[in-house]
Amino acid sequence: MIDRYNREINYLRVSITDRCNLRCSYCMPKEGVSLIGHDDILRYEEILRIVRIAAGIGISKVRITGGEPLVRRGACDFIASLSSTEGLNDISLTTNGILLEPFAAKLFAAGVKRINISLDSLNAEKYAQITGGGDLNAVIAGIAEVHRIGFSPIKINIVAIKGFNEDEIMDFAELSLRKPYQVRFIELMDVGRPALDHSSRYLSNTIIRELIGSHYRLERANGIRTKMDGPAEMYRIAGGAGEIGFISPLSQQFCDSCNRLRLTANGHLRVCLLSDEDVDLREPLRNGCSDADLAELIKRAIAKKPIQHALACDEGHHIKKCMKDMSSIGG
Ligand code: 5AD
Ligand code: SF4
Repeated sequence: MIDRYNREINYLRVSITDRCNLRCSYCMPKEGVSLIGHDDILRYEEILRIVRIAAGIGISKVRITGGEPLVRRGACDFIASLSSTEGLNDISLTTNGILLEPFAAKLFAAGVKRINISLDSLNAEKYAQITGGGDLNAVIAGIAEVHRIGFSPIKINIVAIKGFNEDEIMDFAELSLRKPYQVRFIELMDVGRPALDHSSRYLSNTIIRELIGSHYRLERANGIRTKMDGPAEMYRIAGGAGEIGFISPLSQQFCDSCNRLRLTANGHLRVCLLSDEDVDLREPLRNGCSDADLAELIKRAIAKKPIQHALACDEGHHIKKCMKDMSSIGG
């Protein structure tokens, strides 16, 4: 389906839980998040129904997110049943990687071939610090396992944080030299009420690209950006096995090619990551609405998509339009 700014909306991110086994300081508030009650979380059958109807109006790609999706019981079986949805041709997963090693084979069998792993430091102590106690070795083992099994592409997502991981930029870049991974730097967005002060921690991807470019020759990997590339601008270090991507919501806004909706774990369809505008699907769903009613509600959400996000305005870092915590949206 095409929205009012002529963007084709074909991608749905589905958060299956707001719970997480980590506490990243740029994501979670210091006092902790108030979690959604069990009954308020969509049941798997409810999500399957929403996805089936969304697929009927043009959604062809789904990404499963959280919180951390692998902490929800039955996640792999749910994904396996999602795979048979008519019209869906791509199911991917975003994970923090902590539980990836034990689940990798089952995920692959369930139909997930594309995987994104969040990894903000390659140093075990710093990793534990930013994630509130996470074990870097578990993530490294998970990445090795998905590589061994044959997932492709394997994307490693790094949120760039001033004063935290800027000294690791070259280590991450060099990871793409040795391994066939897409190593992607994401600009920190000022959303939610996190423990970490976002405004002083923003690091532009322009600086990161220049730094890498001063050590290595960077070649464009995707020429002119196409809709299929998503928001990342892709490069390769000449001769490297993998690629380096830059996702720059602030320094290089990509709202004009936005193709997505987000379903939160409690059944709200968000029209933009950076706006709290949404359409509730759960209540109508539980009040017995028809498939046609649901399709209408999804179309209503698409019709509400803004031309661009609020952080793109001149006031950028001073206005907050998205107060929901990232862990309840799923990135
Ligand atoms: N800015 C940018 N990325 C964020 N993520 C979580 N919070 C933020 C933020 N404020 C990322 C996670 C993960 C993805 C789901 O979203 O690190 O890679
Ligand atoms: Fe969990 Fe992801 Fe938030 Fe970290 S960024 S606390 S892994 S939801």
